[in-house]
Amino acid sequence: MHDGVKAPQARMSPPTPETATESTSRLRCINCGAIRERADQDFRCPTCGDLFEVFYPGWQTGRSSPAAGRRAEDLKHLWRDRKTSQAPADLSGVWRFRELLPTLKSEPITLREGNTPLYDLARCARAAGMLSLQAKHQGMNPTSSFKDTGMTTAASFARQEGFRWVACASTGNTSASMAAYAARGGMRSLVLIPEGKISWGKLSQSLDYGAVTCQLRGDFDGCVRVLNELVKRRPIYLLNSVNPYRLEGQKTAAIELLEQLNWQPPDHIIVPGGNLGNSSALGKALVEMKELGLISRLPKLSVIQAEGANPFVSSIREDGGAKLTPMQADTLATAIRIGNPASWKKAQKVLKATGGEVEEVSEIEIALAKAEIGADGVGCEPASAVTLAGLKKLVKRGFVKSKESVVLILTGHVLKDPEFTLKFHRGDLFTGTPDEKHAVVLGPQQRAPLVLDAAVDAVSGVLDKFDREVPGE
Ligand code: F0G
Repeated sequence: MHDGVKAPQARMSPPTPETATESTSRLRCINCGAIRERADQDFRCPTCGDLFEVFYPGWQTGRSSPAAGRRAEDLKHLWRDRKTSQAPADLSGVWRFRELLPTLKSEPITLREGNTPLYDLARCARAAGMLSLQAKHQGMNPTSSFKDTGMTTAASFARQEGFRWVACASTGNTSASMAAYAARGGMRSLVLIPEGKISWGKLSQSLDYGAVTCQLRGDFDGCVRVLNELVKRRPIYLLNSVNPYRLEGQKTAAIELLEQLNWQPPDHIIVPGGNLGNSSALGKALVEMKELGLISRLPKLSVIQAEGANPFVSSIREDGGAKLTPMQADTLATAIRIGNPASWKKAQKVLKATGGEVEEVSEIEIALAKAEIGADGVGCEPASAVTLAGLKKLVKRGFVKSKESVVLILTGHVLKDPEFTLKFHRGDLFTGTPDEKHAVVLGPQQRAPLVLDAAVDAVSGVLDKFDREVPGE
């Protein structure tokens, strides 16, 4: 029986400046500061009920010493050299950075996650009023979302601890990812999803990877409540983002990004906000990289939510993030249809540490931005497109200047939610909704499929028509 989830063991040597990046780790409560070796199965602090974060006591020593500076350069070389290795841990874009992760004593469960591309988005830059714009596409992970980077770490620790069952509540991507990593690691997985509120693509993934999938009548927040009770009763390893080992894996996306940028920080990084685990993870990485001398300044990390699922935006605007009032969430960007985000305190700290902002975007703005990212030949799922829609607003507000460097984090692949894309291009995404009359602005982006006779003249006529209508395109 498992009565707790042990923190990965510390390495034995005492920390010195030379070993300042050894991954000796502990769990620390973000509220009362209690330090623990192991968490209970709900990953909540038994003293105050708040969340834990992984911290590395060894890193506190000599952070600005010349030895620490040398160590930063050594790490950069080490990580680069690993790119030519064929070892499974080195082929992973997460475990390649293992010096900044808790120490795993067994082989990781890996699907070669991470290693995601950084794209220039020329058209999107113009649409947002920027001179240039880049996107790191986390949808290019093995199960097509950013969740894989955190799942490889947390699932590996679950297996190391000997758990037979892992579980999560999800809007679809966490469950797809968890199901895959559990299957690879020989564990059983339980998925709780809100009935009728996740895309078919994501649902089909968890079925295909063999998860026990329960569609609960209710919303994501209801699924979370049920699961939190269940893990107190049964030996199940919780794989939601309250699990701090997930966030440790997810933070490597920021490390990989900085490596891709030759360790020159961009001015801004923009992420979608749902349960707020990802913004917390990326922000944690930025702060740690600065502390370890890997980067010299912090990019501003901004969080964008859908207007219909904006509890964090309201919290920041109303009282600087001192408290969060849960809401009934609704948005077509189902991945971020979350009214009671678990990691809001962590995200609030990140915003404060990096000087980032929050913004909310409408359903029409999300749909337009998604089509624009598609038209740049990249594509993403609706929740990811809030980043571009939010950037446009941050530019208008003057928070982002047109010459600054900006990286959008695209969190999910375009094929995650083809129904949204098809409805958009056919022009019926907003039919029967209050947004119907505003949807006319989407016309120029729509490319509905044309049904023609199987004749050359018919197809050629279409080309003539397009050449006449949009000669310069
Ligand atoms: N983008 C996508 C595609 C997501 O799937 C999620 C969250 C987010 C953004 C928001 O990230 O929660 O860390 O703030 N999806 C979770 C899930 C909730 O269950 O798949 P967050």
